Amino acid sequence: MSTKRRAGIAGVGYYVPERVVTNFDLEKTLNTSDEWIQSRTGIRERRIAAPEQAASDLGLIAAQRALADAGMAADQLDMVIVATASPDMVFPATACIIQDKIGAVNAGAFDLTAVCAGFPYALTTGAQMIKAGQAERVLVVATEKFSGLLDWNDRSTCVLMGDGAGAVVLTADSPQGEILTSVLGADGSGIDQLCIPAGGSARPASHETIEQGLHFMKMNGPEIYKFGVRIIGEAVEQALTKAGLQEKDMDLLVPHQANIRIIQSAAKRFNLPMEKIVVNIDRYSNTSAASIPIALAEAKEAGRLKPGMIIVLVGFGAGLTWGTVVLRW
Ligand code: ACO
Repeated sequence: MSTKRRAGIAGVGYYVPERVVTNFDLEKTLNTSDEWIQSRTGIRERRIAAPEQAASDLGLIAAQRALADAGMAADQLDMVIVATASPDMVFPATACIIQDKIGAVNAGAFDLTAVCAGFPYALTTGAQMIKAGQAERVLVVATEKFSGLLDWNDRSTCVLMGDGAGAVVLTADSPQGEILTSVLGADGSGIDQLCIPAGGSARPASHETIEQGLHFMKMNGPEIYKFGVRIIGEAVEQALTKAGLQEKDMDLLVPHQANIRIIQSAAKRFNLPMEKIVVNIDRYSNTSAASIPIALAEAKEAGRLKPGMIIVLVGFGAGLTWGTVVLRW
């Protein structure tokens, strides 16, 4: 009898802030238009957190909902992993803040940074902890408050991003959402393509860095666009091959929500009808690490996840990083 341990998703949850900011709202303060934003990105509106809400507050609600979905109490958790590029503070980890607020008194807690690929990285890490016997029940949260990292006068970046959080509970005995394989990759030669240049140990915050706006997100949009189109194709193919599956076996694709045109190019490459792809970029824009678990949780809420389905999650982002996880629901 095989003693190989499994890991599966026992519960999912998400939270998006109440405040809706439409493209028309942005037209009032920026030299932009609803037509430009929608035609280039597919975004109509985004959610923006209240000033008093930090990334941990968004993640906490998503985590509570995932635990409720799994029918589990927080003190049963062994580990809390938070994927975020917009932590409450440089340290301690946002995971520790969530661990405390949620009452996960028996769990370890740490953050993981892979920016928009953060969820596949964190999910893989949690699943491997369970498969290795290090943990039985792991909470994986992806939470972002990118609105605090954006220059709201820079139309080339601020129209693209929004705030939100998603979470899953992983267990060794969940009958659903088994993690089959993952592919995680990075190309650190691309760090300058998408980054926040100052505020870390390389360029600590100073009057000069603040005056130059170097603590805001900077992006080479066209280069990231080309990278996204290429890497989604490659990373999904690699992960399916590793799982002994083919493109035609994919029942649902849950991609990072960066740009509808990148998602459409994936649909074309895999010959997938758009009904087999989860899309919510029109309502939430790009919520970085949170976009995949929000989309997964919304798909579950809508009854789109059926037992036995092969579901592929794929993310890419700053680093450069990418990650694909293949699940059997
Ligand atoms: N409104 C109006 N005009 C704009 C805006 C705006 N919001 N933003 C840029 N423009 C202008 C530019 O100034 C430029 O004008 P110019 O030709 O006079 O110089 C023109 O529009 C075209 O700009 P491009 O950058 O060539 O536009 P493009 O078609 O490449 O679309 C976009 C830009 C949407 C940013 C695209 O490049 C993209 O989606 N890139 C990928 C973004 C992405 O995936 N990011 C991931 C982030 S994930 C993470 O890890 C944080």
